[in-house]
Amino acid sequence: MPEAAALELDGVDIRYGSVTAVRELTLRVGRSEIVGLIGPNGAGKSTTLHAIMGLLPVHQGEIRLNGQPLRRRSAESIARAGIALVPEGRRIFGDFTVEENLRLGLAARRRAYMGDPLAPAFELFPILQEFRRRQAGVLSGGQQQQLAIGRALVSRPDILLLDEPSLGLAPLAVDGIFKAFTEIRELGTTILLIEQRAQRTVALANRTHVLVGGELRMTLGPGDAENTQKIIAAYLAT
Ligand SMILES: Nc1ncnc2c1ncn2[C@@H]1O[C@H](COP(=O)(O)OP(=O)(O)OP(=O)(O)O)[C@@H](O)[C@H]1O
Ligand SMILES: [Mg+2]
Repeated sequence: MPEAAALELDGVDIRYGSVTAVRELTLRVGRSEIVGLIGPNGAGKSTTLHAIMGLLPVHQGEIRLNGQPLRRRSAESIARAGIALVPEGRRIFGDFTVEENLRLGLAARRRAYMGDPLAPAFELFPILQEFRRRQAGVLSGGQQQQLAIGRALVSRPDILLLDEPSLGLAPLAVDGIFKAFTEIRELGTTILLIEQRAQRTVALANRTHVLVGGELRMTLGPGDAENTQKIIAAYLAT
């Protein structure tokens, strides 16, 4: 028997009322892999992450964590099972301090650890430790994204879901968070990364799936990075 994928979607349909937003989506994320999910606006990327988190019901098919179906589990229980979401738009509280924002992530922790519970965020992003008593609203866009990722990491998830983390960031800040993804993978956390920066994602991820109109249309590997745009344009033209 091959090892169960860390996260697996098997023929998943997700609906809003009578409208099917994601259709027959099948994908695997192996342990300590980064898998990319790219596609145009409205493709169903955020919908997919919300269904994995138990925030939307799965109409058909199955989502499995370490081989175990997640069906009918509450969002809280899925978070406690070790999946954390960094939502689109960061959703940090600007009038809370950095430390207060990070502490919100502790609610999903499965057990206590020795030492500072915020260490997973501070080790990856030292600036958050330096600024721990500042109001989050005064941080730069890049620092706020570090805070959103740090808040997810303090629950020590096995799987991190990221929804367009580089959106609206300056080029240097984008470099910083892409470097962080590599470090997070090296620390053993599995990543499903939704991005608009297609070429960078293809270069970074073990595999990158292209979702269009709720359906998985093609899969690219790191070797395709140089030609990402050409490959996708040629495919969509056919
Ligand atoms: N709450 C909702 N109710 C009804 N339809 C929705 C809802 N949220 C999203 N949709 C629809 O589902 C489809 C997929 O939306 P989704 O937000 O998952 O796309 P996305 O790939 O994340 O796009 P973006 O790049 O703009 O974030 C779209 O057609 C969208 O209009
Ligand atoms: Mg989205």
